[in-house]
Amino acid sequence: MIDSQTISKIMSAARIEEVIGDFVSLRKRGANYVGLCPFHDEKTPSFSVSPSKGICKCFSCGKGGNVVHFIMEHEQLSYYEALKWLAKKYHIEVVEKELSPEEQQRRNDRESMFIINEFARDFFVDTLHNTPEGRSVGLRYFQQERGLRDDIIRQFQLGFSPEKRDELSLNALRKGYSKDLLVKTGLSVLGEGGSLYDRYRERVIFPVHTVSGKVVAFGGRILKKSDKLAKYVNSPESEIYSKSAELYGLYFAKQAIVKMDRCFLVEGYLDVISMHQAGICNVVASSGTSLTHGQIRLIHRFTENVTVLYDGDAAGIKASLRGINLLLEEGLNIKVVLLPEGEDPDSYAQSHSSSEFMDYIKQNETDFIRFKTAILLKDCGNDPLSRASLIQDLVESIALIPNEIIRSEYIKECSRSLDTREDMLLKEVNKRRWKQAERNRQQRDLQQRYQDYRLQQTGQAAPAGQAAQPDMAPPSEEVPFPTEAPQLARPGNGTADTPPQLPPKQAANSMHDYEKNLLRMIVRYGERSLFTEEDGHTVSVLEYIMEELQIDQVTFSDPCYRKMYEEACQHISDPNFVAERYFLQHQDSQVSLTAAELVTDRYELSKIYLPEDNDSMSFRKKVKREEDMLGELIPHLIEDWKYKILKDKIKEAMQQIKQAQRSGDNQAVMKWMTTYRDLRETEKVFAKALGERIISL
Ligand code: CTP
Ligand code: MN
Repeated sequence: MIDSQTISKIMSAARIEEVIGDFVSLRKRGANYVGLCPFHDEKTPSFSVSPSKGICKCFSCGKGGNVVHFIMEHEQLSYYEALKWLAKKYHIEVVEKELSPEEQQRRNDRESMFIINEFARDFFVDTLHNTPEGRSVGLRYFQQERGLRDDIIRQFQLGFSPEKRDELSLNALRKGYSKDLLVKTGLSVLGEGGSLYDRYRERVIFPVHTVSGKVVAFGGRILKKSDKLAKYVNSPESEIYSKSAELYGLYFAKQAIVKMDRCFLVEGYLDVISMHQAGICNVVASSGTSLTHGQIRLIHRFTENVTVLYDGDAAGIKASLRGINLLLEEGLNIKVVLLPEGEDPDSYAQSHSSSEFMDYIKQNETDFIRFKTAILLKDCGNDPLSRASLIQDLVESIALIPNEIIRSEYIKECSRSLDTREDMLLKEVNKRRWKQAERNRQQRDLQQRYQDYRLQQTGQAAPAGQAAQPDMAPPSEEVPFPTEAPQLARPGNGTADTPPQLPPKQAANSMHDYEKNLLRMIVRYGERSLFTEEDGHTVSVLEYIMEELQIDQVTFSDPCYRKMYEEACQHISDPNFVAERYFLQHQDSQVSLTAAELVTDRYELSKIYLPEDNDSMSFRKKVKREEDMLGELIPHLIEDWKYKILKDKIKEAMQQIKQAQRSGDNQAVMKWMTTYRDLRETEKVFAKALGERIISL
């Protein structure tokens, strides 16, 4: 464990926009930064970073937190590992407390696998440069046959695996690395009799790095043509490596991609490396397989513009067209370059200077849809059936493009080049989009849950004139219920014969929502003064809430919320207590994550809209910031919550009555009826108070 002092040291050193900026291309917007969310597929940026608060949040998928949570999620590390990661980045010495055995175990595996990979990488690099075998075979191959310079060989950490069957495995075991993890990473293979032998033998080695530069895998290439041996041997999928989630070269390319605002996409390790050597650094490789959504998302974090470089032989092109649809769908702008016959990016980069290469690209860059049309047209001649299927194929690609203007441009162009009616193409495209929309509907439903419940509850709910219609329907649904006599304070001065008035219809919020609402006030504003009493004593937000909850013996039902509330109460007389800071830097990662969630809650960023004074027939809204309204807001949140508890109790009483009736227990029926009536009375009072408050808003 890391002690809390070290944690706050790390947190104050780690500038969140700097840490995140290594992974996401951020643009400044006001006091914050925005970028494409690294945690889900998206085309327009909804990932926001607030340097002043030290938090980030995606307003679409909801992921976020403080800088530690970001690293946890992004690098798939534990809280502990993420803190260590940041400490390393900012050169902070970590003072560790003893680890419990479980903690030890938990952080072991993944971390150890990365450590073993690092060890293996160093071993391969060392073998390449410092052993006779490595130099005469491996290094000679890179230098002479592939024309690579030393600095490039070093930069990409290229290596060599010796011929001996278990050189690496023996070395690793001698160093104390576990057999189990050597096998898990795929560096060693378990032989009969339980001995280990090396996966890579007499191969040149290409380490594969994550976007942040950690070694997740290796590719090993044979040196001579062979019928028996595979040209490449790669690491197997493991707890830390999923081939389809990584892009070879991204770690070395990301800055150049941002700078050039374009990413070149090639096939192989050596294409990437040779282009770097020629001075073209914004290049990544799909490693011979078709692209996955995850890989495209990785690219999209850094740019919207992709140029695919195809080998001149053109054999694989048609097959790969389909894969490009994924890029279109992601909203990327795709261009295509066909290299001269017999060349691939590797060979072309080796025989041309970077400006020659760039000139070639500039002159031969074709828009993808145009490129596809040309390729397909070549094949189908005048045969109407193949023309029809060509059109379908193009329509499919165009329909994937999210931007409507770009789509319609393509439709116009295809209509010309294929001599087809534009309106017909448009209809086809729209049909496809409609189908796609159906498929996406479920996902959108999910996102709806991130709606602004707050605006629903307060602001927008109350266009002044309508709010308190006296004839608003009383609670007709089967209402909520109690197991004990109601203890809720009665707001307002309503009497029993006041007709019940309901607050405007609200979204059906769960108890959790109410609790969250209030805890948010505590985390964000706990220590602020809410109002000053006549004797000059100021009451803080926390004090007020605490008193209100104590009066009615109400507390949070969510265990984490309760823990946070109780801890806040313990600090109530600490003049240095700042709730937000305290919770955001909490040692318990669940607490700090919850705090971050509450602080970044979408609603705090939105403004609260109030109806304008109704003097000018104008419907202009004026906007108030949440923190300027705490005096009104917090009492309302507490009332709302208590009202919700009350309704739940009423529902419960109703059920008890029914149950007692069924079992013929008249006494219980009477008892619950009394409870029920009492609760209903309380409810009327509440409803009236809630109704009045809506008018006063
Ligand atoms: N690849 C792979 N496993 C294989 C074959 C290919 O992972 N069995 C990946 C490698 O990343 C390789 C890329 O697909 O770099 C392209 O394959 P290929 O064109 O066959 O290899 P090159 O990298 O072009 O190698 P070379 O130029 O030495 O032939
Ligand atoms: Mn090649």
